[in-house]
Amino acid sequence: MSDKDFKELILQGIPDSLPPKPVYETSVNHAPGRKDILSGEEKKLAIRNALRYFPKKFHKELAAEFLIELETYGRIYMYRFKPDYRIYARPISQYPCKSIHAAAIMHMLSNNLDDTVAQHPQELITYGGNGAVFQNWAQYLLTLKYLAIMDDSQTLVLYSGHPMGLFPSHKDAPRVVVTNGMVIPNYSKSDDYEKFNALGVSQYGQMTAGSFMYIGPQGIVHGTTITVLNAGRRKSGPDMKNLSGKIFVTSGLGGMSGAQPKATVIAGGICVIAEVNPKALKTRHEQGWVDEVYSDLNTLMNRMKEAQEKKEAVSLAYLGNVVDLWEKLAEDDCFVDLGSDQTSLHNPFAGGYYPASLSFEESNRMMREDPERFREKVFESLKRQVLAINKLSEKGMYFWDYGNAFLLEAGRAGADVFAKGKGKGNGMDEEFRYPSYVQDIMGPLFFDYGFGPFRWVCTSGDPKDLETTDGIALKVLETIAKKAPPEIIMQMQDNIHWIREAGKNKLVVGSQARILYADCEGRMKIAEAFNLAIRLGIISAPVVLGRDHHDVSGTDSPYRETSNIYDGSRFTADMAIQNVIGDAFRGAGWVSIHNGGGVGWGEVINGGFGMILDGTEEAEMMLHWDVNNGISRRSWARNEAAMFAIKREMERTPGLVVTLANIVDDGVIDGVFD
Ligand SMILES: NC(=O)c1ccc[n+]([C@@H]2O[C@H](COP(=O)([O-])OP(=O)(O)OC[C@H]3O[C@@H](n4cnc5c(N)ncnc54)[C@H](O)[C@@H]3O)[C@@H](O)[C@H]2O)c1
Repeated sequence: MSDKDFKELILQGIPDSLPPKPVYETSVNHAPGRKDILSGEEKKLAIRNALRYFPKKFHKELAAEFLIELETYGRIYMYRFKPDYRIYARPISQYPCKSIHAAAIMHMLSNNLDDTVAQHPQELITYGGNGAVFQNWAQYLLTLKYLAIMDDSQTLVLYSGHPMGLFPSHKDAPRVVVTNGMVIPNYSKSDDYEKFNALGVSQYGQMTAGSFMYIGPQGIVHGTTITVLNAGRRKSGPDMKNLSGKIFVTSGLGGMSGAQPKATVIAGGICVIAEVNPKALKTRHEQGWVDEVYSDLNTLMNRMKEAQEKKEAVSLAYLGNVVDLWEKLAEDDCFVDLGSDQTSLHNPFAGGYYPASLSFEESNRMMREDPERFREKVFESLKRQVLAINKLSEKGMYFWDYGNAFLLEAGRAGADVFAKGKGKGNGMDEEFRYPSYVQDIMGPLFFDYGFGPFRWVCTSGDPKDLETTDGIALKVLETIAKKAPPEIIMQMQDNIHWIREAGKNKLVVGSQARILYADCEGRMKIAEAFNLAIRLGIISAPVVLGRDHHDVSGTDSPYRETSNIYDGSRFTADMAIQNVIGDAFRGAGWVSIHNGGGVGWGEVINGGFGMILDGTEEAEMMLHWDVNNGISRRSWARNEAAMFAIKREMERTPGLVVTLANIVDDGVIDGVFD
């Protein structure tokens, strides 16, 4: 298709005549059918809602078609309106636009729906089983049209994928404001989500899916590498250089979980990983993210022991259920160094977790046809999984919760996951026997110091620009590292190593993007250097900056990002809300705030931003606030690293005055209770 035709199709929005009837492609990885949750009257409402996007002349035909979609898949995706052209992050110059910032947003959004990037592209799902960009294809078509016709005096408003419209604002306002899944708190149970989503009035945006900031599995590789490395250090001591000879057992070869084998190999270890969905496994194998595939557990065990003896850096996938893998390891008395789980337990009963004892196909059928029985199967399976994990942990395995609600759901299932005698006084009723990776690793070593999943995308789509940005970022980091205090030198060195190797590790899937766990100083200085390089023509087109919501400030999530907050405030969401408001008026190109993401609907509030560097202006204030909001809150919660980090930031930054916590002696508290 020519550039001109593509532009015309974008500008057309909803087509004037009906496209041909949809063909359900069986070769692609489709979302599982969702629960049939609506009553007869509610189904009428869902169809009435869906038809709002179309002229009357289409209604009769589409009403019948949408009813079939609703009854077959549990949702109305409007498959017929998925465009014929290939959706991917085209070079920015190919998008029709009046605002270069709006074109940059089209570039980012398109990457999230690219067939080679997204988990269920036909259903507009980017990752995590239900992380949606839009609820249906009409929303996609209209949004692209609005982005193409808007100028820098307008802001596009998106309610859970629905483009409410363009509203006059001003040049320095965000070009797009996104909310996903925001509901009245008392209506935030998972069945509420199923119902609202089926009605077409709300969606689960995950974190980077519904905020257009997904950059393929790379987005999580750096974080996963530092997590597995530091998990190894928790077991073998802080001087451990790499994971040589160490075995890490886990599950999931999906959107984020698929980063685990690659990260373990980068860290020099052996990853044994189970994946129940043959299509997901095939994709990661073909992309070279997992090295070898086994469907027989005995053969896998032999290969694992061989790799252990030879200290190979290798990843071994098991095509099957992770519970069977854990039980086999426990039964054979194998020694496992590190263990975790990355099934999508934030979405346990609608395709996120496949219980043992059912085949993949049986599960997909049962979750739709007999949800109550399916729920029981999930709980039985989790209990079995925990039993085997506990056995291996007693022999020395370091197990952690990977922020996927594994311990939360296993606890709800009645599995033996609670710590005996621990727990009161830290802002939650009971504590788990295993830490979350944020409590032990990501919180104290990274978030509290302001390090988080910063990223950038070269909108030219040119790999040469990415190479140039890697070089610039490396120089900036080397300069900062010369004066870095001992508290953060390990993180700085890790970053320098990472960015030096990033190109060689061939991490790009989709847009020309790079992840880097930078702190506030790093993010700001890198942004400044990129902007200058764009102005001088060293980088050929605008660069988008952003981050995963899974960061220092953007997310309030008591079992994940804020699980290492111990002053009782971990169930509050002021930080995430303050963050998005503050980013919006300090210069973000677009902002988003979501209910759900990672750990499940109703369990978290998370927000993010995109910022477009076009060589003309900078919004350093935004990057500054975006990190220091979280450090201040973490410091107020008495987290030691954050208290250190915020004092350092105040010395660096004129105008920053943060309320600091006074620390009371334990003796004083104990004394008044004696
Ligand atoms: N990687 C990270 O740093 C990180 C951070 C925070 C949270 N998470 C969480 O990890 C989870 C996974 O994310 P994702 O994007 O990879 O999700 P995903 O749904 O794309 O992938 C999960 C995979 O697990 C597989 N699976 C489910 N049950 C299984 C079972 N019993 N045995 C074997 N395989 C099974 C599924 O088939 C799927 O491919 C999510 O809950 C996410 O929020 C990851």
